[in-house]
Amino acid sequence: MDKVFGNIIFRQLFDAASSTYTYVVGDPQSLEAVIIDTVFEQHFRDRALLEELGLKLLAVLDTHCHADHVTGAWLMQQATGCRIGISQRCAATQGADLRFDHGDRVVFGERYLEVRATPGHTDGCVTYVTDDHRMAFTGDCLLIRGAGRCDFQHGNASTLYRSITEQIFSLPHDCLLFPGHDYSGRTMSSVGEERAHNPRIGGHADERDFVGFMENLNLPHPKQIAIAVPANLRCGKPQDEKLPRPADWGPVRRSYAGLLEIDPEWVAEHLAEVHVLDVRQPEELEDKLGRIATAQCVPLNELKDRLAEIPKDKPVIPVCHAGMRSGQATVILRDAGFPRVANLHGGMLLWQQMGLPVLRSTSPLPKQTTSQRHQTS
Ligand SMILES: [Fe+2]
Repeated sequence: MDKVFGNIIFRQLFDAASSTYTYVVGDPQSLEAVIIDTVFEQHFRDRALLEELGLKLLAVLDTHCHADHVTGAWLMQQATGCRIGISQRCAATQGADLRFDHGDRVVFGERYLEVRATPGHTDGCVTYVTDDHRMAFTGDCLLIRGAGRCDFQHGNASTLYRSITEQIFSLPHDCLLFPGHDYSGRTMSSVGEERAHNPRIGGHADERDFVGFMENLNLPHPKQIAIAVPANLRCGKPQDEKLPRPADWGPVRRSYAGLLEIDPEWVAEHLAEVHVLDVRQPEELEDKLGRIATAQCVPLNELKDRLAEIPKDKPVIPVCHAGMRSGQATVILRDAGFPRVANLHGGMLLWQQMGLPVLRSTSPLPKQTTSQRHQTS
């Protein structure tokens, strides 16, 4: 199966603003999955990936109460009905329905993650380890060639030393390590690699060496801490409890490719409220797929020169044969300042498959564009 990494579904996602990694881990048989360390602002990206891979999300997990970004846990729970999991030693349990203790298992299909308490960066940090001990998601406990700072949120360098050496370095040499952050583009490491090369705790470093290093990092306070920690104590629930939406005029969703899309059924039911823009070539409008009766026809290659013809008083729905060229039209319109645009998902192919109404080649093409009709009526 194309989604599978070894014998597990695995995806690593990155938030550039906070340098945070988010991980999707799933069972290839049942397609049940969990997602680890989501970022509030990346909610639509993460949801689109889960949907496009056909995964059934059971839980959104956090490795700890983050100080550098707001978790997307509450948003994901609201959107999918999944559960929220975090260590029971973490203060951020308001809204969490799975409160982990050391040794607990998070089961998804035939697979599970083992919860290992790895305090030290915060007192509620955990590391999630796959059942076969081939992968570990270490949060901010062990970073690639680094370790999480210990100077706030009840951090303790001696505790962190024991967590890393006893709970992570005890895993197999070739166990892959996936951290919560990286600030230099590094994506993964392994137990063997960190044991050998980690400059804080690798080689022959003992507890005194590690604690001495960690207590003299002199790092600036995290920029987001005053916002992130209170929000994360509520599992990322906003104060106003408002759910962000990609658009306020219709059920628009953002694809994993980053495109705003809308489903044909909704467009068919709201044709009078939207402006359909067909970007196919004129000869295609005569083919068997037909065209949507209200559509204005502007071929994609002419769109940039004819933007003035497209009205802005209604949401614009570009359409083409299968939804690719109209996707590009969506980007062009958005970049040109059209505030409400969404690609017709699946194009005329899906529109026709769904039996939605079309004009066929026997019907004459409209003499005027829709915008011209607007101007004359
Ligand atoms: Fe952290």
